[in-house]
Amino acid sequence: MAYLPAELIKKKRGGGELSRDELKFLIEGYVAGSIPDYQMSAWLMAVFFRGMTDDETWTLTELMMHSGHVFQFPQFRGVVDKHSTGGVGDKTSLILAPIVAAAGLKVPMIAGRGLGHTGGTIDKLESIPGFSVSLTREKFTQQLANLGVALIGQTEEICPADKKIYGLRDVTATVESLPLICASIMSKKLAEGIESLVLDVKCGSGAFMKTETEARALATGLKRIGQLAGKSVTAFITDMNEPLGRLIGNSVEVEECLAILRREDFRPGTLHSLSRMEFLDCEKLSVQLAGEMIHLCGVTRTRAEGIARAQEVLESGGAYSAFQELIQQQGGALARLPTAQVLREVTSPRAGVMDMNCEAIGYAGIALKAGRAVASDILDPQAGVQILLRRGERVDRGQPVFRIFGGPQTQNLDEAERRLLAAMQIRDPGEFVGDELTRLQQSLQNRKNGDLILGEV
Ligand code: URA
Repeated sequence: MAYLPAELIKKKRGGGELSRDELKFLIEGYVAGSIPDYQMSAWLMAVFFRGMTDDETWTLTELMMHSGHVFQFPQFRGVVDKHSTGGVGDKTSLILAPIVAAAGLKVPMIAGRGLGHTGGTIDKLESIPGFSVSLTREKFTQQLANLGVALIGQTEEICPADKKIYGLRDVTATVESLPLICASIMSKKLAEGIESLVLDVKCGSGAFMKTETEARALATGLKRIGQLAGKSVTAFITDMNEPLGRLIGNSVEVEECLAILRREDFRPGTLHSLSRMEFLDCEKLSVQLAGEMIHLCGVTRTRAEGIARAQEVLESGGAYSAFQELIQQQGGALARLPTAQVLREVTSPRAGVMDMNCEAIGYAGIALKAGRAVASDILDPQAGVQILLRRGERVDRGQPVFRIFGGPQTQNLDEAERRLLAAMQIRDPGEFVGDELTRLQQSLQNRKNGDLILGEV
């Protein structure tokens, strides 16, 4: 049945519930090009403010999933994936996918580009010269059979509705909507032909869900959809009040992952080296998520055994070999990964105890073109930011807190610096109220121990 797009926008704007036919008209029309970006943007904004019922969210997910090909892999056992709801410096996919593949399971991963202030796996991978994020269905299946892992973005063929809507939400401030996030993530995951799914629901200033209550609601919504579709799902809530690991950007995040996979210390640019302990948070979360993926597939009896297996595969070098093979099979040349240089240090304007707004750091990355401000932006693969201090650490006046990385083409250093300065929240110990300081110190301890899992639904 044909509708007027404006009447459906108006219905949602007024808080109404759209029927399956109405949602189908919108999604199919948008993918086909008969509904333009401006009408879809208006509808997305109406959803942002008015929300969706559980039925609408499930229908939207199904329609988006069926907008393209839906994989099925009856020939494989142990088909599993992980998805994060989006964070800053969140690079765990690049570490855990090869771990899980090297443990003998199949990871058919459909990932996204940067969204809002958060980074995207696909953008990180595209910083590797030659890497292709769009494989034919045959090649995708073949690579899964041979290597156990294939990593692609949404395409015209697979989840095209999410590809278009995701790009539009990124630049129209319509990302932080529970039903839109649920439909976006789960349409991709259900199109992958997986049996099991581990969800990393981020919570905090660098996440779309700022509070634990919001993150729990999102985790519950995502899990519900997964279970309705017959999948085994674990949903963890993890801390995203500061970037994961020490680097945000694209090629610099790949370098950080390489250091973890190679079990070596890391030298971003020429001026600084980091010991592996400094990005233990990223390593440990990746291993915990990988361990749960292994456990969910029934390879181990307990979660702890799954984690031990994941750690073993990482230590053995098996995950590094799988990563190298993954990059090579998808046309990437790791040896040509552009090396970023330190372009500027951003120092603290005062002494005190460090806190930070993680979203603001993500926006500094966008200013540098590590992410997009408008959909047509071409990314600067080398641009990024290094985090030198953690929340809860003491800082002196004039001490470097961030380093801006990039290459010869990197621009907007002044704006990035301004945003990074604004991201710092430095106070005297006496300026904290209630248990704020104790909580910050606890957060620092957890970060040092790599304990980022806050809960599970
Ligand atoms: N990741 C996705 O794939 N979609 C969202 O909407 C948010 C995070």
